[in-house]
Amino acid sequence: MSEALYLRDLWYATGLARDFAPGQMRRHMLLGEPVVVGRMKDGSWFALRDICPHRGVPLSAGKMKDGTVECPYHGWRFRADGVCAAIPSLAPGQDLDPEKIRVRNYPVREQDGLIWIYVAQNPGAPPATSPPKVALDNAKPRWTETQRFLCDIDHAVIGLMDPAHGPYVHAHWWWKKAPRLKEKHYAPLPTGFVMSKHKPSKPVYGVLGDVTTEITFELPSTRFETIEGKLLGKAFKVIGLTVCTPRDADNTDIIQVFYWPAWLFFILPFFWALGRTFIADDRKIVELQRQGLEFNPSLMLIQDSDMPAIWYHRIKKAWAESAEKGAPFVNPVQERVLRWRS
Ligand code: FES
Ligand SMILES: [Fe+2]
Repeated sequence: MSEALYLRDLWYATGLARDFAPGQMRRHMLLGEPVVVGRMKDGSWFALRDICPHRGVPLSAGKMKDGTVECPYHGWRFRADGVCAAIPSLAPGQDLDPEKIRVRNYPVREQDGLIWIYVAQNPGAPPATSPPKVALDNAKPRWTETQRFLCDIDHAVIGLMDPAHGPYVHAHWWWKKAPRLKEKHYAPLPTGFVMSKHKPSKPVYGVLGDVTTEITFELPSTRFETIEGKLLGKAFKVIGLTVCTPRDADNTDIIQVFYWPAWLFFILPFFWALGRTFIADDRKIVELQRQGLEFNPSLMLIQDSDMPAIWYHRIKKAWAESAEKGAPFVNPVQERVLRWRS
């Protein structure tokens, strides 16, 4: 994989909004860069490069004061837009305008309980899109799980979309079925692809009755699973959102959030019981894979069962090339049916 590891001009989910009280900030790594993410006392979000432009101290180690972040070393203060609002050491009459100094700021949005940060190729360029939105009214996270995978974003994404590992990695009675031939229809999306609506075969879906599921993937690493069905005569949607957030080249956080309408409260215990285990299966296999990847072997992507991974690399490459040339992005994925046994 010689392509660039990180794509820019995209939104990345960095965590859950509920983990930040107003007046709290934290250092998050994102695409190999330190970012201080936080909420001002008025509840508004900010994200700044976590390196003081004076002498490099992390701003996240400082304090929040009057709508600014104060560096713990010499007390320089920065507003949410990154502009320096105060340099306490300046004496009266000293001719230096703090506002000419700034630290990189990132656009931040809260959407459906997640905090999204826009990483532009050119710092300061405004976002061309909005963060992904959950297709449910008043979507509230009902169940969430975050796990750190010791791998780069590519292996995390490919590991999660891989259709052939189920019977081996997730060999639990509630997930496994004897391997059989699968045929799934796929179509392109603006920056990814969709596995069209179908009836899932895994036993655990039975909890929700007779359902259909549709799975989308879009850059940089956003997967939506939309499960639709009817229970007690009422139509419902359960939506799972999974993102792979690259912290750096060896660490990727998998953040998974499920949304459902309040009246489906009784499905929560299934997520408690099974959700962590399921993601941990994927995490452990990636840790095992690391033992091989350390030796930098050449790898294979074969036939239909690896086609989603092949598409992922092609889409990534096309995105990077379009950014480089300033040309419009054209999705290389074409509609087709994939066949595999799992
Ligand atoms: S290092 Fe931040 S104010 Fe000096
Ligand atoms: Fe998996």
